[in-house]
Amino acid sequence: MGNIFAVTNQKGGVGKTTTTVNLAASLAEYGKKVLMIDLDPQGNATTGCGLDKNDINNSSYEVIMAEARAADTILSPEGLGFDVMPTNSDLTAAEVELLEIKLREHRLRIALESTREKYDYILIDCPPSLSMLTVNALVASQGILIPIQCEYYALEGLSSLLRTIERVKQRANPQLDITGLLRTMFDARNNLANQVSRQLINHFRDKVFHSIIPRNVRLAEAPSHGMPVLAYDRGSRGSIAYMALASEFMRREKKANS
Ligand SMILES: Nc1ncnc2c1ncn2[C@@H]1O[C@H](COP(=O)(O)OP(=O)(O)OP(=O)(O)O)[C@@H](O)[C@H]1O
Ligand SMILES: [Mg+2]
Repeated sequence: MGNIFAVTNQKGGVGKTTTTVNLAASLAEYGKKVLMIDLDPQGNATTGCGLDKNDINNSSYEVIMAEARAADTILSPEGLGFDVMPTNSDLTAAEVELLEIKLREHRLRIALESTREKYDYILIDCPPSLSMLTVNALVASQGILIPIQCEYYALEGLSSLLRTIERVKQRANPQLDITGLLRTMFDARNNLANQVSRQLINHFRDKVFHSIIPRNVRLAEAPSHGMPVLAYDRGSRGSIAYMALASEFMRREKKANS
């Protein structure tokens, strides 16, 4: 049965969506069966996989509101290599509607119960907030990936994310664990980036992935072509970095489950 991973950080623009889409593609390239869930009303992961947000019948909104079965929302875009549960701005309404519902933090976990066995890995792209949607992702997950841009304010929001993770662990999901913190958009020539990177390692030790995602223009271009970077430019530094991350991720996973 596949483990579920939330890719989360309430800070905006740190590389959550880029990581979710490209890690999904890289794991698929290694022959794994992968489902990517778009749980951000912005729908960037959906469009990044070449899907039209305005042309979706059932989305993660219907799944979380129990109006559709997960299996009936999942798409297998041709040539992508992995499955997608898409979303669009309808999901914005879920935030408010969930407040009136019982077991509101558990909706996604319950909805994915029968889907988990079909996949090796399920990756959830979270919105840039510690909202009820993010809490649903954390309750449904076994692991968490935290993309971090090594900048001055990078560590500031981290403590509230860690508190939320701890709270979810205590109240709803004791098996939840941080799989790794990922340095994204990294520029090794930048002194501050190196300094923040050292701070991260001092603090989080081996929770920090050895793999580093460099700033790479091909990674930024690929979504506008509706494809992961592996399909857009296989030999790019971005492709190579996400393949290395996928390999490290699988090793960590194997170790954690052994
Ligand atoms: N390694 C990289 N190199 C260059 N550009 C990148 C890289 N990673 C992400 N980007 C670009 O930076 C922007 C933010 O990335 P992304 O959308 O993945 O962040 P996010 O955390 O999902 O944002 P949000 O919080 O809005 O959901 C995007 O334009 C993306 O293409
Ligand atoms: Mg995003």
